[in-house]
Amino acid sequence: MSRPTIEREDASRAQRGASAITFPPRFLWGTATSSHQVEGAQTQSDWAAWEARTGRIHGGDRAGRACEWWAGRAEEDFARARTMGHSAIRLSLEWSRLEPRPGVFDEGAFDRYARLLEKARELGLTTMVGLNHFTLPYWLAVRGSWLAEDAPDRFARYADRCARRLGDLVPLWTTLNEPSVLALMGYVGTAWPPGRGNPALGMKALRAQLVAHGAAFHAVHDARPDAQVGLVINMPALDPFDPSSVRDRAVAAAQDWAFNGVVLDALAHARFRFPLALREERAPILRVSGGPALDFVGLNYYGRYRVRFDARHPGELFGRRDARDTVHTDSNDWGEIHPEGLTRQLLRLSRTFPRLPLYVTENGMFDPTDTRRPSYLVSHVRAVHDAIAQGADVRGYFVWSLLDNFEWAEGWSTPFGLLALDRATQARTARRSADVYSAICRANGVSD
Ligand code: NOJ
Repeated sequence: MSRPTIEREDASRAQRGASAITFPPRFLWGTATSSHQVEGAQTQSDWAAWEARTGRIHGGDRAGRACEWWAGRAEEDFARARTMGHSAIRLSLEWSRLEPRPGVFDEGAFDRYARLLEKARELGLTTMVGLNHFTLPYWLAVRGSWLAEDAPDRFARYADRCARRLGDLVPLWTTLNEPSVLALMGYVGTAWPPGRGNPALGMKALRAQLVAHGAAFHAVHDARPDAQVGLVINMPALDPFDPSSVRDRAVAAAQDWAFNGVVLDALAHARFRFPLALREERAPILRVSGGPALDFVGLNYYGRYRVRFDARHPGELFGRRDARDTVHTDSNDWGEIHPEGLTRQLLRLSRTFPRLPLYVTENGMFDPTDTRRPSYLVSHVRAVHDAIAQGADVRGYFVWSLLDNFEWAEGWSTPFGLLALDRATQARTARRSADVYSAICRANGVSD
């Protein structure tokens, strides 16, 4: 694939106001989901066990039947995506289904995924398939989750199996999803399994996930030399609340390093320079023939946090993210709506990895009334275009999400879907955002 270019006259939105924009030919337009959040009837993972414990999930919710993808509705939803003009779809495989016991693989589960991926191909949807999206097999959870010594190695063996069995059907693989988020939520914090609540373990879990990424990258390539393998990282914009305050600037930079910087640095330079580590450690597994062990980078971007210095919050590196500034609804916080941050993070990735294609692997908002989502989507699509105009090699954009799904500790309380889901009847209803996004996909850009 050659590097896409766009017409120079499209280059600057500032110059032309909210003008029409066109993306490079073959730009991928899609949505993203993950196995546990949509499949339903999934019982063998750490999350299934976690949801069964009281007080873990908002409102006592469970993933339950979810969107019934496993029972057969994935194909219907793929067809809906195609009818809406999408050209791609991002989904993930459920490790706990495919390897229900250590070293024992379930051929029936592989067959189910093969059927589903064949359907996507038949419909003309390019698939981006994640080997893992937060959930772990229960057998690995009881051994320590990502802290189990053999976790990266186990993951690589599973990745090898997936690549051999499903590689014909998958042009774009991703290894892990948002390692910093998982480290923060499940190891530094306690909101997600394994609920460890220990910053040092957070760093260990992050390290293990990066090693696992490297090991899986090599395993997939050994099995399928033609595969494209990336990692999905979440990079919120973290800015000082008061840009003239030295202290706000310092804590925003520290948080950015702990959350975004260490991961970029590890991948770009094959080393771990973690905040709590005493010394730097080389990580040759993150390198391949002189470059990073990555064929592309996936960016999940939702918004920005403005960070204030606050000495009372040592656990947050003395920086407090101020919720009053967020434009999101309810009590949950995916950050302030700030499309410029998406342009900035894409340009940062393109400086860090000058030769790698980029994909926006998630972008979206929960908005039960769908009042702000349509303009959120348009402004973020424009922000992606701005990054391309400034030289970033962005190849695709995926909305989170195709339909409402199980949002981890928030349960079913934060609908992100282009399609609303009625959980009782399993009916899907297109929100206005679905039409707005459809128009973008069909026009390969924004037409007014
Ligand atoms: C990040 C995660 O990858 C996904 O699982 C989650 O549902 C969305 N973003 C929204 O929070």
